[in-house]
Amino acid sequence: MTANLRAARPITMSRMLGVAGIRGPERVGNDELAAAIDSSDEWIRRRTGIQTRARAPREVLVQHLAEAAGREALSVSGVDPADIDVVIVSTVSWMQPTPGMAPVVAAALGVSPSAAAYDVNAGCAGYCYGIGQADAMIRSGLARHVLVIGAEKLSDYGDPTDRTISFIVGDGAGAAVLGPSDSPGIGPTVWGSDGTHADAITMTHTWLDYRNAAPGEHVEWPTARQEGPSVFRWATSVVPQFASEAIERAGVTPADIDVFIPHQANLRIIDSLVGRLGLREDVVVARDIVDTGNTSGASVPLATERLLREGRAHGGQLALQFGFGAGLCYAAQVIELPAAVGKELTIE
Ligand SMILES: CC(C)(COP(=O)(O)OP(=O)(O)OC[C@H]1O[C@@H](n2cnc3c(N)ncnc32)[C@H](O)[C@@H]1OP(=O)(O)O)[C@@H](O)C(=O)NCCC(=O)NCCS
Repeated sequence: MTANLRAARPITMSRMLGVAGIRGPERVGNDELAAAIDSSDEWIRRRTGIQTRARAPREVLVQHLAEAAGREALSVSGVDPADIDVVIVSTVSWMQPTPGMAPVVAAALGVSPSAAAYDVNAGCAGYCYGIGQADAMIRSGLARHVLVIGAEKLSDYGDPTDRTISFIVGDGAGAAVLGPSDSPGIGPTVWGSDGTHADAITMTHTWLDYRNAAPGEHVEWPTARQEGPSVFRWATSVVPQFASEAIERAGVTPADIDVFIPHQANLRIIDSLVGRLGLREDVVVARDIVDTGNTSGASVPLATERLLREGRAHGGQLALQFGFGAGLCYAAQVIELPAAVGKELTIE
């Protein structure tokens, strides 16, 4: 008779136990960037909502930001690094294809070598992809505690003369710890991707340009580019669909959402969605973009930690969160906010 396999662990549900974040220590104002792109403080504020963006100096690397956010998230969650089973890092600004950043950060945090650690490259949707994976792993018994980090130093891939995206981006990292729960704290993840628009947010150069360069030929440092208006149109058409589906699949209604934590890409997109999603007039809206800028995979956890840290949102409230961007990838879920939040961090 064939033996029956045993499940990895008894099935449980998952919730977010705590969240923390760190922003680059410099606040770069619009006036500092406007001349190089023939723009103005007024244009940038009106079209994006951004007044300043957080930037980190040259010597601060993306893994330093990830480590700081991860350490604080573990500390406020009351989870020992030795009890973490998986570390997921969402990033597009790690400097090498391999090894990934997650194993490096896991080791720096004192996470056990028996924990899995890997990067997610899903652009600005990467953190929400990671939350969906962490929730599924905990519910299936594959893991008990998962650390999810979104970390970017996008200024490393910025071109001061680029009018499409470089003036928008900021540097920072946010992290959340997920653990087992008797009741559901993370709603079903609705996610997807559309690679037919992969060129809409991309890099000026790839490794192929370096490999194929003639001897002595100089290839410029790769920087990010986007087709702003087409990404804008895509975002405003798909976001209401997948975000509404995430609310519905969580078994709640738009009126039940207390806190709205969209990807911090453009204030016009954020504000237009409140009405389009049918959210309450008194819903708390994350507008971290105004002084942090767009930190890609770090934007949702950073916006979350700020709302909690400043007391504008609190543990137990329902939040709709989502990310969208390069890929083009997107992901959304409704979560119950944790009570535990890190203190405001500065890089040493
Ligand atoms: C990038 C973005 C702010 C540009 O704003 P926009 O309103 O779409 O601007 P457009 O590209 O249509 O250009 C409008 C005008 O401003 C000018 N312009 C474009 N970029 C400019 C800049 N950085 N500064 C000043 N003027 C600019 C254009 O030349 C154009 O001038 P014209 O009307 O005389 O032809 C906007 O498209 C955006 O936020 N897109 C979505 C980004 C996003 O969600 N990304 C996914 C996640 S990262």
